[in-house]
Amino acid sequence: MVQSQAAVHFGEGTKLQIEVVEVADPGRGNVLVRMGASGVCGSDRHVLDGDWEMPSPTVLGHEGAGTVEAVGDGVTDVEPGDHVILSWFYPCRRCTACLSGKAYVCTGSRSEECVLPDGTTPLTLDGKPAFAYLAVGTMSEYTVVPESAAIRIPKEVPFDVASLIGCSIATGVGTVVNDAAVEPGTSAVVVGAGGVGLSIIMGLKLVGANPIIAVDLNEEKLAFARELGATHTIVPDDDLAAQVAAITEGGAAYAFEAIGRVETIESLPGLLAPGGSAVVVGLPPVDAPVSFDALELAESGKKIIGSNYGSTVPGRDFPKLASLYLAGALPVDKLISHRISLPEVNEAFDAMRRGERARSVIVF
Ligand SMILES: NC(=O)c1ccc[n+]([C@@H]2O[C@H](COP(=O)([O-])OP(=O)(O)OC[C@H]3O[C@@H](n4cnc5c(N)ncnc54)[C@H](O)[C@@H]3O)[C@@H](O)[C@H]2O)c1
Ligand SMILES: [Zn+2]
Ligand SMILES: [Zn+2]
Repeated sequence: MVQSQAAVHFGEGTKLQIEVVEVADPGRGNVLVRMGASGVCGSDRHVLDGDWEMPSPTVLGHEGAGTVEAVGDGVTDVEPGDHVILSWFYPCRRCTACLSGKAYVCTGSRSEECVLPDGTTPLTLDGKPAFAYLAVGTMSEYTVVPESAAIRIPKEVPFDVASLIGCSIATGVGTVVNDAAVEPGTSAVVVGAGGVGLSIIMGLKLVGANPIIAVDLNEEKLAFARELGATHTIVPDDDLAAQVAAITEGGAAYAFEAIGRVETIESLPGLLAPGGSAVVVGLPPVDAPVSFDALELAESGKKIIGSNYGSTVPGRDFPKLASLYLAGALPVDKLISHRISLPEVNEAFDAMRRGERARSVIVF
């Protein structure tokens, strides 16, 4: 058992408390990781702001990387000293989806319950069980995760960069490559240029989309978007569809939403040319249905695609994304606007709520 400083959400209020939690030794099939870095993602903010139901108390954070400290019985994928990126949706490796190579729709994972495969949690706080968000809880000096959630990467990748590969980059690049399969020379618009939207822009640049249009309310974000590959940037007015149509000769081939707002998700089909595809990446609060004009959708042959984790298969995709970073093709480091200590995490969430900061990364 190790003691670990961690950022804990007690289920109410929008602030995290810095507490010392106890982290159990890794049991059979699990891995103890000493965290190197954890990103601060919009999904953590949803939990803090009460948008989704979660068990509590919960150590937040799901975008992280670190060093394997110890492994439980039966673990063969990694060994102490390995550098790993954590997956926030650990695959069971047994269900039909996993066996078909679709870990991102695994039906056997218990990550969304914030527990290990056997239903237990490795964390305690003041002698009572505590949960790790999505069974990783990366805003903690130490964590215990299932073997399938710890993916080895080359040691040359710095932890701050590696942490972002664990969510925003995997999701953003994955949704371009896996969900939308964007072809070179086709047009794309990204609504919301936070950590995830900027990662989508990096993915679009990687595959040669053109033009690449970034939409955000915040000019600072649009400057990041231009640096990472956006050819055009827009602060939306009342008629975003017309603004996009003016750049794309009538509508984009692909439109991505990376905010999680009902209105902007509903705006996606209107941004598309006939035959285009809309991809829902941003996650709205629970019980917030959206509506579309189904007749227009059908008659114009448009598609709406949902994206979980950019259809990432962690064991396949994390090493690939890490090597694209090392090759200079994916400038993940440019996404890091702020490196912070764990106690500064509440300021990072406040800035995120104001639409500021490309990505804050907690460095341990
Ligand atoms: N589908 C997935 O698997 C997956 C994975 C990770 C994150 N997400 C979700 O993606 C969303 C974005 O996450 P993030 O970390 O990038 O958050 P973020 O807060 O960093 O980014 C959101 C951006 O949207 C902008 N914005 C807000 N309102 C806007 C509006 N009306 N018009 C234009 N821009 C607006 C903000 O200025 C900000 O730049 C969240 O909902 C998160 O939960 C989904
Ligand atoms: Zn995330
Ligand atoms: Zn599975």
